Amino acid sequence: MVDNADPPVPPGNFVPLTSLRLGRPPTLAWHAALPANELEPGTVRGVLIGDVSVQLANVDGQDVAYHGRCPGSALPLHGGMVDGAVLVCPWHCCRFDLRDGRRLDEHRPDGNLEHVALSLDQDELRIGIPEAGCVKRALVACVGNVLRRDDGFGVAVAQELGEGLPSGVDLIETGIGGVAIVYKLMEGYDTLVVVDAIHCGAQPGTMVVLER
Ligand code: FES
Repeated sequence: MVDNADPPVPPGNFVPLTSLRLGRPPTLAWHAALPANELEPGTVRGVLIGDVSVQLANVDGQDVAYHGRCPGSALPLHGGMVDGAVLVCPWHCCRFDLRDGRRLDEHRPDGNLEHVALSLDQDELRIGIPEAGCVKRALVACVGNVLRRDDGFGVAVAQELGEGLPSGVDLIETGIGGVAIVYKLMEGYDTLVVVDAIHCGAQPGTMVVLER
């Protein structure tokens, strides 16, 4: 049966999710990291580019680069053990697949290693760091807890955004507590977007953006 009903009309001030994008994509400044032949298969090397810590690894001949902090904490991955294609964090032994950065022991939206741009230029590995003035890292914190039967708006937004966010943008579901946001912010972000439902006197479904 063909449904000829008109599509639902969004409420006033409705902002489609797809229109929420960072204003300006970061441009990268490239920095020499180390000679490619110094990164042997099955090894990990930590390098510091300015104040950005990076973990370089060679997995089955393929070079990869990740931010040097353990996801979800401010602690460094430096000193972690490598077991085949798996990196084991030196602090609480969480395990990550170095081929794609995926966390192996627990699924969390903020749990994967964060990629860093990497290139090979005349036998030298180079790291791409966003230039000053660009939005370097943004955190989208989705507040809500369906188990507690609150509005669940943040949870729904997190599911909608999924893992399709651009590089440099991380997503967390915070439940109803603010502590998770505070811990996550210790990793260093220049932009925080908090997604939640509020009473503001407007019609249900109205999108309100508070900026400072
Ligand atoms: S800090 Fe890495 S597993 Fe806890």
